[in-house]
Amino acid sequence: MEPKSQEPAGGLLGRLSYFTDMLAWPLRTSHYLELVNPLWTTHALQARVEKVWDETKDARTLTLRPGLNWRGHRAGQHIRVGVPVGGMHYTRTYTISSPPERDDDCITITVKAHPGGRISSHLVRQVKVGSYLPIGLPQGEFMLPDATPVQPLFISAGSGITPIMSMLRSLVARDRLPPTVHVHYAPHDYDVIFGKELKALAEKHPHYHLHLVFTQELGGQATGNNRFSAEQLNELCPDWRHREVYACGPASLLAAIESHWQAAGLSRHVHVERFRAAFSEIPQDAVGGRVSFARSELVVDADSSTNLLRVAEDAGLNPNHGCRMGICHTCDATLKSGCVRDLRNGNVINETGQLIQICVCAAAGDCEIDL
Ligand code: FES
Repeated sequence: MEPKSQEPAGGLLGRLSYFTDMLAWPLRTSHYLELVNPLWTTHALQARVEKVWDETKDARTLTLRPGLNWRGHRAGQHIRVGVPVGGMHYTRTYTISSPPERDDDCITITVKAHPGGRISSHLVRQVKVGSYLPIGLPQGEFMLPDATPVQPLFISAGSGITPIMSMLRSLVARDRLPPTVHVHYAPHDYDVIFGKELKALAEKHPHYHLHLVFTQELGGQATGNNRFSAEQLNELCPDWRHREVYACGPASLLAAIESHWQAAGLSRHVHVERFRAAFSEIPQDAVGGRVSFARSELVVDADSSTNLLRVAEDAGLNPNHGCRMGICHTCDATLKSGCVRDLRNGNVINETGQLIQICVCAAAGDCEIDL
């Protein structure tokens, strides 16, 4: 059997690693370098946590120093982050909140701990400076165009501020902040992630118009009239028809924005970034079923709305996954029998042997998955 490495395209380092890989076979030189410094590996990308910083009571910024394989990002892009919790390996996607212009070779991600969210809570509360996290390369199309839009309208809510913050920081770093309107929703003033920085930006740049909209009264009562609406938009940004919209936040906000611009015939000016896939209504009479994970010889009951990735994880399995929103196909698994429902469009899939994305499919009766 031959070593699996192939001669790299060129360069002294490439040729050197080709020969050292032959000596290191069946591992690669990179595996030994990992023992010395995980950032030197080339077979996987890791990042060291350099600093943690609490933004609010439940949101934390992690400063990460990526390893040698890193390539720069564009403002608005996201990365996959591997998070080991309780002996299991999970992957989540987080937007990079720092601008590409940062000059210390580090990036930041800003994570909000969601109630009941095991992984986000772990990142916010448990990850220590000096620890290493596997990361992916930057991805995503939610970016400012190379030619800066003349008049952006940023609309964000909660941790949806993170890609917008990267964009704002990048525009400021390049001294190219155009006349901008930014509407940001948060429960209270003290929940605004990057609140101080945003307010300082608004003070320093008169053409950056920041509107913080608080959706709860002190004490926790929701104020329904502070949600996105046509009247509110007209009031905060009267020239919205002439702006390029970049929006990130919960599905309900994004749906309201999309339908408003669609009704105005201006959909092409709306760019949205979603935290999770948009799901369709599940029929009232939909039922779950008994899910058999064939290779693991595990059988569990599942309802009609919980995605099968979550069902598998709750059962103690650790399936491959990436985006958890139906984009990357890392979670693809074969349907061996039975039916599942694609939660994005409600379609029932019952073709034996079909690959399904378990992060966006739920049981639609008994089914058997090749996991
Ligand atoms: S995890 Fe990316 S498609 Fe399922």
